[in-house]
Amino acid sequence: MLVVGNWKCNPDNLTKAQELFNLIQKGIKPSENIEVIICPPFVWLIGLKMEAKGFKLGAQDCFWATKGAFTGEISPTMLKNLGCQYVILGHSERRIYLGETNEMIAKKLKTALEVGLKPILCIGETLKERQQNKVNEALKKQLAILKNQNLRSNIQNLILAYEPVWAIGTAKPCDPKDAKEVLQILKCNEFVPSYIPVIYGGSVNSQNAKEYIKAGFQGLLIGGSSLNSKEFIKIIKTLEKITPN
Ligand code: PGA
Repeated sequence: MLVVGNWKCNPDNLTKAQELFNLIQKGIKPSENIEVIICPPFVWLIGLKMEAKGFKLGAQDCFWATKGAFTGEISPTMLKNLGCQYVILGHSERRIYLGETNEMIAKKLKTALEVGLKPILCIGETLKERQQNKVNEALKKQLAILKNQNLRSNIQNLILAYEPVWAIGTAKPCDPKDAKEVLQILKCNEFVPSYIPVIYGGSVNSQNAKEYIKAGFQGLLIGGSSLNSKEFIKIIKTLEKITPN
C-alpha cells in the first residue's frame, strides 16, 4: 500500500519542513505493508534527504527534458540523482494554474519513466464533468497519453492516482462507492496495465482513509492531512489495521 503525502507549496521554510518530517517519522514505525512517500517542495528535498530513514521521497513535478536551456525547470534526472524515487505528474492544480496539457504531461511522463523515476500520474474529472455524466469520457481523454508505444517499456513503474478535481482540498471527498466505480472503469481501460497500482486522492482524512482501501485502491494521495503530523500518523495507523482486498 502506498501513502503519499503531497505537501504542495508548504511549509515556507526548511526548519518547519524538517520539523514536520521528523514528527511524522517519530510517529510511524516502518511497516512492510505501507510505503510512505513524502513529496515536499523541490527546495526542501535536499534538506530532508539526509533524514529520510524509512521514507521515500518524491517531487511534485518535473520537466520533460533531462537538461538544457529551460529556465526555472527541474529535470527528472536531477531528481533521480538527488535520491528521489517518485514524481507526481499531471496534478490538477498544475493543469488549472499552470496550464499543463495532456501533451505536456505525456512528455514529462515519458522522460520520468526513462530516467527510472516512478511517476504518480494524477487524473480526475471536474465537477461539471461529473454532473454531466462525463466521468468516463474525461478520464479516457487523460489516459490516452498512455497509448504512446514509447512508454510501454518502462510503464511498470507507473502509479495512477484518481483525484476527482472537485474533491481536492474541499473537505468533500468522493463517496468511496463512487470512487470504487471509477476504479473499475480505470482497471478496464485499454491503456492501463492490470498490475499498475491505482491510488485515491481528494480530501482524505483519518475518518475516511480506510474506506478507499476497502474499495480496492492500493493507496492514498494526501494533501491537506499530510501537513498535520498527528492526522497523517493517524491515517497510517488506521491503514495498518486493515487487510487490503
Ligand atoms: P487534499 O489534496 O488531500 O488536500 O484534498 C490531495 C491532492 O491534491 O493530492
